[in-house]
Amino acid sequence: MTNKNELNTGSYPLKKEPYYMQVKNEIAIFKAAYDAKLPVMLKGPTGCGKTRYVEYMAYKLKRPLITVACHEDLFASDLIGRYLLKNDETVWVDGPLTNAVRIGGICYLDEIVEARKDTTVVIHPLTDDRRILTIDKKGEIIHAHKDFMMVISYNPGYQSILKDLKQSTRQRFIALEFDYPEAEKEASIVSHEGKIDIKTAGKLVTLAGKIRNIREHGLAEGASTRLLIYASRLLKRGMPVHESCRTAICLPLTDDEGLQETLNDLIEDIF
Ligand SMILES: Nc1ncnc2c1ncn2[C@@H]1O[C@H](COP(=O)(O)OP(=O)(O)OP(=O)(O)O)[C@@H](O)[C@H]1O
Ligand SMILES: [Mg+2]
Repeated sequence: MTNKNELNTGSYPLKKEPYYMQVKNEIAIFKAAYDAKLPVMLKGPTGCGKTRYVEYMAYKLKRPLITVACHEDLFASDLIGRYLLKNDETVWVDGPLTNAVRIGGICYLDEIVEARKDTTVVIHPLTDDRRILTIDKKGEIIHAHKDFMMVISYNPGYQSILKDLKQSTRQRFIALEFDYPEAEKEASIVSHEGKIDIKTAGKLVTLAGKIRNIREHGLAEGASTRLLIYASRLLKRGMPVHESCRTAICLPLTDDEGLQETLNDLIEDIF
């Protein structure tokens, strides 16, 4: 297996409660969806808390979490499983999806639009009321464990017509919209995760707010909560504030020199 094809099956079972700050009413919605056996789609920009949310919900529902980072070379067989040669014998090895279907885990397919189209053939019967997984190579049909749940995520910002999800896939999921949390909550998150005082965290959030406002002028996406946490971690280790913001927030966002200057001015204004 090449590196690219390696599957990140995530960490499970989760032993420690992940820190998660609810932004709207998403905790109750996830619980209701889980009880109702409805698959969930998370939409939102990078670094706004989607993965953390799923980790938290898996912990709360006491279900194993199996994460697959989708990419353009991901085939259905990478999800389902394959025959492997072991000591001159071919043995079947379940893929992460099959594993989740059997044990009643939460299967989280991250950036689903990147996956190859043949994966939808697998996902469809699992995400409507049939809840079955067909393993053609083995001639096996598995009825999903009662606790099995499918969660997918994608970033509508990167969406192109070629890569958009088909309606027949979209309409098998309930959807939750994620965005950067409101300022006060985001400051608490940054303060908690970056272990810095709430006042400095608040300033980083103000900076992010301004950067997010200039998005229309050429930035593909605003500064994520994740980048604010990076900046606070540099600050925490004694790096000067301008350098921390530049290296953790501005430079990762864009290569455009004009935009860099605008971003530097914003830092000067705030700190
Ligand atoms: N509501 C929240 N509660 C707690 N932490 C949060 C929250 N939102 C964001 N974070 C923090 O922001 C970081 C980035 O979030 P996360 O990795 O979940 O983003 P994501 O939406 O999955 O991004 P991507 O689409 O790039 O995978 C997390 O590691 C966490 O520290
Ligand atoms: Mg993620």
